[in-house]
Amino acid sequence: MNVNRRHLLAGTAGAAAVALTASACASEDGGDSAKTIGVAMPTKTSERWIFDGDNLKKAFEDEGYKVTLQYANDVPDDQVAQLETMVSQNVAALVVAAIDNKSLNGPLAQAKEADIPVIAYDRLILDTPNVDYYASFDNIQVGTLQGEYIVTALDLENQAGPFNIELFAGALTDNNTPYFFNGAWAVLEPYIAEGKLVVKSGEVELEQIATENWDGAIAQDRMDNLLSTHYKGEQVHAVLAPYDGISRGIVSSLESNNYTTLPVVTGQDAEIESLKYIIAGRQTSTVFKDTRDLATTAVEMVVALLDGKKPEVNDEETYDNGDHVIPAFLLTPVSVDVDNYQEVVVDSGYVDAADLQ
Ligand code: GAL
Repeated sequence: MNVNRRHLLAGTAGAAAVALTASACASEDGGDSAKTIGVAMPTKTSERWIFDGDNLKKAFEDEGYKVTLQYANDVPDDQVAQLETMVSQNVAALVVAAIDNKSLNGPLAQAKEADIPVIAYDRLILDTPNVDYYASFDNIQVGTLQGEYIVTALDLENQAGPFNIELFAGALTDNNTPYFFNGAWAVLEPYIAEGKLVVKSGEVELEQIATENWDGAIAQDRMDNLLSTHYKGEQVHAVLAPYDGISRGIVSSLESNNYTTLPVVTGQDAEIESLKYIIAGRQTSTVFKDTRDLATTAVEMVVALLDGKKPEVNDEETYDNGDHVIPAFLLTPVSVDVDNYQEVVVDSGYVDAADLQ
């Protein structure tokens, strides 16, 4: 589909225009029959979403599709506008990693109207009937791995403690946030109840520990405050951090508060910068989610749907979006630390060894 044709479609958005299939439009352009898939990613400030976007683009192109790939700089309204444009361009399907899980009702209703299937990518979209499938990881298991890492690293089964721990969670606008936290909390809570783990700040509610936009600088500020308010003359021994950008913010805070022996600090996404921290002993662990597999899963869902087939799913009960249970394919996350990063993320080709120098 060439640029002019897109403008024409954009200008005539409505039931008639959107009823045209992309390939039907394309044939008028002189035989260019590839359909276009709309891919909406949240932000480029996190490396993982750049990988996700690139992987999706490549995987769709390998299947013969074109791709319009948009990032919205973590601004929900911008993502809404991008999706509206994609719908008006009559994309064949939408793959969406939402910024604000409750802000997309408008464009998704338009997509439904235009018969455009919608895949929620990694993050579930809530309170709308207009999500067809969900491609993600086992998000509870991510939290379980983070909690278990802390239990093993502090050897809580054998040590008397008590050990001080502080808890961080992700953005409240992200449906994954409670799943990650609940997974970790289920593992950690018995040790907190027994007094082996102590949250000196007392902050254990999601609203208290959430981090707006998953922003590492915000996490750094909160850690600074926790240290100055609750840790005068005391050490923190572990920090539950849900995502590598947040982990690095926490480490910066600890280092600027003169921690030489750093606590256990978890993470997620196996970002290159955090892998370097792990190798240097500054962050303890991360959770690797192979975004190549996630992209392949989402692409297979779209290809099946556009072929009139039912996509393969492996979970039809966990993810109720407030309107209905969204059939999902959930992949398996892997805990990574200094002992297995080589095997899990380098040998698998996910990260180049040279980038970790
Ligand atoms: C979540 C995602 C995590 C992490 C976080 C911050 O939705 O599942 O892997 O990337 O966003 O970007």
